[in-house]
Amino acid sequence: MKHTQNTISGKITWRSPSNIALVKYWGKKPIQIPANPSLSITLSKAFTEMSMEFEPVKEEPGLPALEFLFEGRQQEKFEKKIAGFLNSLYQEYPILKEYRFKISSSNTFPHSTGIASSASSMSALGLCLADFLSRTGRMEPDTPAFWQEASGLSRLASGSACRSVFGGFVIWGHHPQLAATSDKYAIPVPFEVNPAFREMKDAILVVSSKEKEVSSRAGHSLMEGHPYAEKRFETALNNLMELSRALIAGDFDKFVHVTESEALNLHALMMTSNPSYILIEPNTINIVNRIRRFRKETSIPACFTLDAGPNVHLLYPAADEIKVRKWISEELLAFCEQGRWIDDEIGKGPKRIN
Ligand code: DP6
Repeated sequence: MKHTQNTISGKITWRSPSNIALVKYWGKKPIQIPANPSLSITLSKAFTEMSMEFEPVKEEPGLPALEFLFEGRQQEKFEKKIAGFLNSLYQEYPILKEYRFKISSSNTFPHSTGIASSASSMSALGLCLADFLSRTGRMEPDTPAFWQEASGLSRLASGSACRSVFGGFVIWGHHPQLAATSDKYAIPVPFEVNPAFREMKDAILVVSSKEKEVSSRAGHSLMEGHPYAEKRFETALNNLMELSRALIAGDFDKFVHVTESEALNLHALMMTSNPSYILIEPNTINIVNRIRRFRKETSIPACFTLDAGPNVHLLYPAADEIKVRKWISEELLAFCEQGRWIDDEIGKGPKRIN
């Protein structure tokens, strides 16, 4: 790292994973405040690796000095989005104006799988920025204040991204019965998770890789004035407590019930918004029905959750991996686009690469 007249130049690299919500964030208030708390699992293999090079700007400060490369190529759309994001941070972090940034990003999962990349990429960005701020003296690296800032910055870039800053089970959003929770940043669940849940697998079954027709951003805004909004926010508060109790007690029946009901609730909200829309596809339902049948026949507590799209996340305990993998190949891959799936699992969270 080079120092010139109290300014520095250098390069920061972070690897940050995606996450899947069990209790969903759906609906928000300005600025990026969730309408209800959410609870997610941080994944392991689906991640973004992002490098941020920085150097002091030589000419007039003020213009966003940014270059953004995605998988080695310039990406104007993302560059504009990130420049706008940096711009929105200038008031709180004026030091950003004094630097030029070159950001290079790539994902481990192919874009063509329809797997949302905003959680992994925007958390990688939040971490790079927090790291930059700590190097320029705002806070000590790797302290609770650092992780809080990284999660808060990620949230401003994309709500669900703030949960990816921590490994394991994570909560974002204030819950009146869980003291340490906040709307501004995520925290690892503030209780001991039963060992039965510590090694969960997530098989992401790719039903369709097409880009979705309605973005999450638009979906959140359709919760304003939604006829079921109040009931939904109340349900999410209850489900978060129910799920927390299940995680503490090692209660798979409760876990399965809450997780599946949250996924269906999310899609029911889309189907009943104005305008209404449907993101699941016939093969989503085919897989969901087979998961329920398999659970009944084998007593293996495999269950599904859905993101804002047609792909199915099949969650199950790592102890049942052999049987579940066999069943995925024999029965479920027939409903996946070109037999595609991603074999992921609960992960430990982001990693700095130096
Ligand atoms: C359905 O985090 O993508 O995945 O804050 O507008 O960037 P923005 O939305 P985003 O919404 C994610 C919604 C969800 C549920 C969840 O992850 O909790």
